[in-house]
Amino acid sequence: MKSKPRIFVTRAIADEALSRLAAHARIDLWHGEMPPPYAELVKRARDADGVLSMVTDRIDAALIASARRLRVISNHAVGVDNIDLAAATRAQIPVGHTPGVLTETTADLAFALMMAAARRVAEGDRHVRAGKWRTWGPKVMLGRDVFGATLGIIGWGQIGRAMARRAAGFNMRVLYTMRPGRPAKTHRQKPENVPGAIRMSLERLLARSDFVSLHVPLTPETKHVLGAKEFAAMKAGAVLVNTARGGVIDQRALYHSLRRGHLGGAGLDVTDPEPIARDDPMLKLSNLVITPHIGSASYATRGKMAQIAVENIIAVLHGRMPHFCANPEAKMCSRRAILRDARSP
Ligand code: NAP
Ligand code: GLV
Repeated sequence: MKSKPRIFVTRAIADEALSRLAAHARIDLWHGEMPPPYAELVKRARDADGVLSMVTDRIDAALIASARRLRVISNHAVGVDNIDLAAATRAQIPVGHTPGVLTETTADLAFALMMAAARRVAEGDRHVRAGKWRTWGPKVMLGRDVFGATLGIIGWGQIGRAMARRAAGFNMRVLYTMRPGRPAKTHRQKPENVPGAIRMSLERLLARSDFVSLHVPLTPETKHVLGAKEFAAMKAGAVLVNTARGGVIDQRALYHSLRRGHLGGAGLDVTDPEPIARDDPMLKLSNLVITPHIGSASYATRGKMAQIAVENIIAVLHGRMPHFCANPEAKMCSRRAILRDARSP
């Protein structure tokens, strides 16, 4: 009898998806609430034909080199910056991910953070709970209007455009940047999606926007795409939203700009590092609203992400490429090789 391939699943995912995977593979499930420590990740990956990983798992070149049976990595996320894609490609390991299904949910959170930072929602909540609400006042807790303001979007991909569609409902003027050198008309630039959105350079976008929202992946090119110079170039009182990755901004520079009061506020769902240290001075800023990397965290969306992550693995186990592959250039090994490896001790 053929034994099933072994898949290391690094955290408990939606039950339905796990059951579906169990029909195709032996599952080695990490039950901890916290991610497996790196040494454990390396150890378990060494015995696995596939790893279903989270954004918290560092799948680096050393891990990939030591995991001789590994045939597929499937990230339970759209972002794959936790994975050394080049090393996976060299090892001919396809890397699956979950784009699309989390777009609207993540854009909802980005918009919520923008609103919260503009209208001081979290600060107001703290104010009330601390017993400081003494009266209605004509100058109490004034914020910034979102309706009719200008929103600059950095990264005109799926989530960036979903953010722009929301902004249209608030009568906002939408500006956006794309990767330098991208032709003006690409498949990603669908004017029908976001009528009136205007493409411009990062420099011009920063100078014109009341709100700036980041939607680029974290890559060597986008690391610290916004730092002290860029924050200084933003409008006084502008609000920054980051639901992309902590590393795309220089967090120290953001802290200083918020503290000095040049930027009016910020809404962050991601930090560098994660989690942010409990004694990080950022957490003392009243004009910062911060959430614990929950952009895609709705019941429905996490269920869909788990399903796609599992289907990406099953596809490879059956000799196909993942439905959503972050490194399509990786040549996949055959199903026979997977089953042969699964039988070997
Ligand atoms: P996407 O559709 O691939 O969009 C990313 C966009 O960024 C693409 O249009 C890409 O352009 C553009 N880009 C890449 N490098 C750039 C640069 N240097 N300058 C300007 N634009 C650049 O991905 P998505 O689904 O929108 O997700 C975006 C990111 O959001 C993910 O990578 C992830 O890090 C983050 N995210 C976070 C959460 C959360 O829980 N907070 C949830 C989901 C996603 P090209 O087409 O030219 O590459
Ligand atoms: C979450 O951060 C993702 O990239 O899906």
